[in-house]
Parts: sequence; C-alpha cells; structure tokens
Amino acid sequence: MPNKLLVATSNKGKLREFKKVLGGIVEIVSPTELSLSPKEIKEGTNYAKNALAKAKAYQDRFDGMICGEDSGLEVDVLGGKPGPLSARYGGEDTSHPEKCRMLLKELEDVPLYERTARFRATIALIDGEEVKTFEGVLEGWVGFEPRGTEGFGYDPIFIPRGFSQSNAELGLVIKNRISHRAKAIRKLAEYLKSR
Ligand code: IMP
Repeated sequence: MPNKLLVATSNKGKLREFKKVLGGIVEIVSPTELSLSPKEIKEGTNYAKNALAKAKAYQDRFDGMICGEDSGLEVDVLGGKPGPLSARYGGEDTSHPEKCRMLLKELEDVPLYERTARFRATIALIDGEEVKTFEGVLEGWVGFEPRGTEGFGYDPIFIPRGFSQSNAELGLVIKNRISHRAKAIRKLAEYLKSR
C-alpha cells in the first residue's frame, strides 16, 4: 500500500468508519497517531468549505493525501437547520442529549408527515494539487422522543427512511451500512481505487 491518507478528525467513531471502508485501499493515519494538533479553524455554513478547512489544518505538516469531513442534520420544516451548524446548535457547550431535547421542543407541534429530515456528509480530499469532494445523504425523519443508546449526536431522534427504529436503536452495524458518512466514504473509496 504505497499511499497514506491522513483523516483529519479526532472523532474515534468517524475514524473507525474511514478505516473500515478504506483500510484495504490506503494506509489510514490520524492526527492523534501522528501527535499532530490541528491549527485553529473557523467553521462556516458550507459543508465542503468546512471539510476542506479541516483537511488544510494539517497540510503544512503532512506529506500525503489528507481528507476532512463535515456533516449535519437538515430538518425541512426548519428550512434545513441546524445543517452545518448541527454541532453548535444551542451553543457549543450544550450536550447532544440537550440539543436533541431542544430540537424536539422546536418540533413540538409538527406532525409526522412534516418531520422529514436528512443527514448530510461531505468529505474533502486534498490529493496533491487537486481537491475532490464526495457527498452522502441519509433521508429520514425526526421522531417524537429520544430512543436508543448507540451512535452519537442526533442518532436517538433520527429515524432513517424505511426503518421504524432510530439510528441509536438500529446500532452501528446497520448505521455504518446506510449512513450519510458511509456513502461519502464509499465514493472516496471508488476514487482512490481508480487513481
Ligand atoms: P462535525 O463533526 O463538525 O462535522 O459536526 C457534525 C455534527 O452533526 C455532529 O456533532 C452531530 O451533531 C451531527 N451529526 C453528524 N453526523 C451524525 C451522525 O451520524 N449521527 C448523529 N449526529 C450526527
């Protein structure tokens, strides 16, 4: 395996997903394994720009391919919010269970058929002089109460289309097969195999 890919994340769950799909194609390394800390970046409201900024934060210290990922939950009745601001919804210091509660409160009077939502993930890959982006989407709806214990973030209140259980009830084996991030990573895998 001649190529190394630095996945610019400190999220162990995300790193595991990348390693699972790309492990046989490139050697995956993480900032933690290389003892690299990121330069401070300012995230905005555009997934692709945020993902690229995350990758660029290591560019001067890593000689190889680097990818960053940015994702969020888009709720239709809220005009696509919280979207790229999902991690900061309700304030950076608010826990995810609290963010889930706040979102459920915002949707208190919204009926089932108007609770449609999706997770979106964008990966930006720096490959030499080139930048490539890969996107994945998981359609579904926001439930009426948090359910399940697996996963992270908004998983307890997100029910993927075609299922009756939340992401957090479905568990990681199913989630890693259907998730927005898994879809984007599989597209990245196709690119890496073809280059
Ligand atoms: P990021 O790590 O800056 O990309 O922030 C992504 C945010 O979107 C997370 O903190 C969660 O709030 C939400 N999010 C993204 N992907 C997922 C997922 O698979 N499950 C639950 N929440 C997610």
